[in-house]
Amino acid sequence: MSIIEKAIGQVGAKRAHAGIERPEPSSDGFHADAAAPSPSTGPTDAASAAGSGKTVPIDLGRLAAMGFAVAPEDGGAQADDGAHTREEFRLIKRPLLLNAFGEAAASVPRGNVIMVTSAVAGEGKTFCSINLALSVAMERDRRVLLVDADLQRPMVATTLGIPQGPGLVDLLENPSLDPGEVFVNTSVSRLSVLPAGSRHQFGTELLASEAMKAFVQELSERYPDRLVLFDSPPLLAATQAVVLAGLAGQIVMVVGAGSTSQEAVTEALGMLDAEKPIGLVLNRYPRVFRPEYYYG
Ligand SMILES: Nc1ncnc2c1ncn2[C@@H]1O[C@H](COP(=O)(O)OP(=O)(O)OP(=O)(O)O)[C@@H](O)[C@H]1O
Ligand SMILES: [Mg+2]
Repeated sequence: MSIIEKAIGQVGAKRAHAGIERPEPSSDGFHADAAAPSPSTGPTDAASAAGSGKTVPIDLGRLAAMGFAVAPEDGGAQADDGAHTREEFRLIKRPLLLNAFGEAAASVPRGNVIMVTSAVAGEGKTFCSINLALSVAMERDRRVLLVDADLQRPMVATTLGIPQGPGLVDLLENPSLDPGEVFVNTSVSRLSVLPAGSRHQFGTELLASEAMKAFVQELSERYPDRLVLFDSPPLLAATQAVVLAGLAGQIVMVVGAGSTSQEAVTEALGMLDAEKPIGLVLNRYPRVFRPEYYYG
């Protein structure tokens, strides 16, 4: 099972507000278009629901079997390992929520927009993004939108069992699209997903576009009490990641224990804005070897 060793804390002298405090929970509203399903809205057939504004069922038992931190009442592991992972992500999310909604929020511009990244590929970004999203969604008074911004290796929808459909790329390319039709409501209360969407050969340009900037600003400002999590490409391998880091208010950097070199971590940290809260998460899971390196 997963063993996550949390190492969230301050990185650099100026990040006095980077999450080391323990925030109190606060309330969190949500985008009506991407709202969690109402009690009367039951899960629908996943394939027809994706991208249609309907609710896509998430198989939490399957996620739990994959090591994700699912609550026991939702089919999560009863074993100690599952509880351990839930507790780790509970601790990881606290400073993020404090920076987003607590007293520190005023000093963290766009603090409700959080980028999950890493120095290099395969360190557990998607694993941590989904776990964080599930953990935030567990809080009754919070809502979370998980956005797959890893356009070259999008795995959020696949991992969650959300069928192919439109997503971030499509919204950026076609401003006339209704976000409410593209955001995927899930059967997990308070959790919505924006998949990566169509493949795009100019992903870097799209993420660096004015449209993306405006979109992130809109996500942050229009619904300031919702947490927006971006699963992202690795910093050292994709220029999109650096662009995205500039748009997010907080950064979570996943560090694969025993796989990411200190030099790589230092170099990646050097690419980030030292004024922003940056949390490090040490992922103790053995790294998956990927012979095909996919960021050019
Ligand atoms: N702590 C963990 N416990 C259990 N499984 C994990 C853990 N960390 C990562 N994994 C698994 O390892 C694999 C690689 O992790 P993941 O896909 O999250 O990495 P990534 O950083 O998103 O990779 P990429 O750079 O390819 O997007 C996945 O199958 C994931 O579920
Ligand atoms: Mg990933």
